[in-house]
Amino acid sequence: MRRLGPGKLVIASHNKGKVREIEDLLGPYGIEPVSAADLDLPEPEETGVTFIDNAELKARLAADLSGLPALADDSGLCVDALDGRPGIYSARWAQSGYKIPSARADGSPAEGGEDRNFDLAMERVHQEMLAKGPEAGRNAHFVCALAMCWPEDGQGELFEGRVDGQLVWPPRGNLGFGYDPMFQPIGHDLTFGEMDPAQKHMMSHRADAFRKLVAALIA
Ligand code: IMP
Repeated sequence: MRRLGPGKLVIASHNKGKVREIEDLLGPYGIEPVSAADLDLPEPEETGVTFIDNAELKARLAADLSGLPALADDSGLCVDALDGRPGIYSARWAQSGYKIPSARADGSPAEGGEDRNFDLAMERVHQEMLAKGPEAGRNAHFVCALAMCWPEDGQGELFEGRVDGQLVWPPRGNLGFGYDPMFQPIGHDLTFGEMDPAQKHMMSHRADAFRKLVAALIA
C-alpha cells in the first residue's frame, strides 16, 4: 500500500467546512490540504451507487486533473427501516423549493437556504418511518467513505467508517449540521445536535474513517 507523505494534498470538495475539518485532522502530519475549489477543478456528477463509488470518482478526477494526490469523502445517513435510505441521497433529500415550519423541540429555525433544508429532510425521514410502523424500529447509522488517489496510479485506497445510533423525534439541538439533531449515538443520551462538537468528532463516522486512513497510509 502506498504511503501519504508531507506535501500538497487536494481535497476533492468545494465545501469549505469539510476542507477545514480535514486540514485539522491531517495538518499535524505535515500534509498541506488544497481545496478543489482553489484549483478551479470541476465537481463531477455523483453517479455512483455506493458511498465508496462516489468518493472514488471525486478523488480520481481531482488527482488526474491536478497531478497531485487527492482525497475525497462521501457520507450520509442510512436508516434500517427505510432499507438504508436516504443513504447516498442524504444531501439531495434536503433540496427542495419549499420550506416547512421548524419541527425542532425548541422551535429554533430551519437550517439551510432555499435549496437546502435539513428540517425538511428530517421530516421526510420521520414521515417515511411512521409509514413503516413502530415494529420497523429506529436504528440508523452514518457512513463516511474516504478515497485516496494518486495521479500516476490506476486505483485508490478506500476506507469506510460508521457510527450506529437511533433516530429520535422531534429533533433536538442546534449544534452540528445535517441530520445531527435526530441522531442519538448508541450509549449516549444526547443527539449529535446537542453534543459538543469535539465529543461528536471523537466518535463520528468521519473520525472512524480517518483513523483507518491514518493507520494505513500515514502513521
Ligand atoms: P456529501 O457532502 O455528498 O458527502 O453529503 C453528505 C450528506 O450526508 C450531508 O449533506 C448530510 O445531509 C449527511 N451527513 C453526512 N455526515 C453527517 C453528519 O456528521 N451529521 C449529519 N448529517 C450528515
